[in-house]
Amino acid sequence: MLGIFDSGFGGLTVLKELAKVLPNYNFAYLGDNARAPYGSRSFESIYSYTLEAVRFLFSMGCPLVILACNTASAKALRTIQQKDLPVMAPNNRVLGIIRPMAEETGKLTETGHIGILGTEGTIASDSYLMEIAKFWPNLHVEQEPCPMLVPLVEKGLINHGATEMFIKEYTQKILDKDPRIDTLVLACTHYPLLQEIFAKVLPKNVKIASQAGIIAQKTLEYLSKHPEIDCQISKNPQKNGKIRFLTTDSADFFEKGANSFWGKDIRAEKVFLYSNNDYSYTN
Ligand code: DGL
Repeated sequence: MLGIFDSGFGGLTVLKELAKVLPNYNFAYLGDNARAPYGSRSFESIYSYTLEAVRFLFSMGCPLVILACNTASAKALRTIQQKDLPVMAPNNRVLGIIRPMAEETGKLTETGHIGILGTEGTIASDSYLMEIAKFWPNLHVEQEPCPMLVPLVEKGLINHGATEMFIKEYTQKILDKDPRIDTLVLACTHYPLLQEIFAKVLPKNVKIASQAGIIAQKTLEYLSKHPEIDCQISKNPQKNGKIRFLTTDSADFFEKGANSFWGKDIRAEKVFLYSNNDYSYTN
């Protein structure tokens, strides 16, 4: 089983693409909806919540967990990989979504000028700037935090006038910083739901790059290069294309909220995360 973690619903946009390229794999999706959004939280909170989620998914039998959340990838991934994983589960893996996205950014622009839009946490961490500089040192990169967008999406206010107003404000700010930007990376897994509004407000010469498809392809590449992880994922349980949706909020809350991300009805299970290795869930 492959574990996918997000602070709330956003990672469903990534899971959807993953399920298309890995149709026979089993997935466990965990949304920490009870504590979302993570975007404006401190490093300590994001790190400890993410670690609890990773432990939980490991204890369910997921040898690979993907943090399908830019904020958790920016704030918690490195510490978990370097400090916790070697002690907790040295044969397991935790991957984020910033590095694989950074690897591709240079291919997305013609002018060599790109903009990154994300939560306050993702932008303040400078993770995109650092990762992109490793692969594409000549790219010009500007960033802009969009603190209102995740709360608006989580509240289901996608088509509200306020959402379009904030998108106009954030995109104007980043294009004022660098008018040569021709590609805006939506570096938050919630933003694909706002793609139409971005397209509406942006000048025609500015493209939108969203992550989900890229992350799915990169995961395929990772699995083909790491057969030892791939075969553990397939063993437990045998592959049959089953997806379990788990949430720290109520199952009912998740089932209703997930609809706009997933596009069809799902059944969710409420789980309780503890800081030890146990987990439990109720239907
Ligand atoms: N969807 C998450 C991301 O990609 C963050 C949402 C949040 O603020 O919790 O950054």
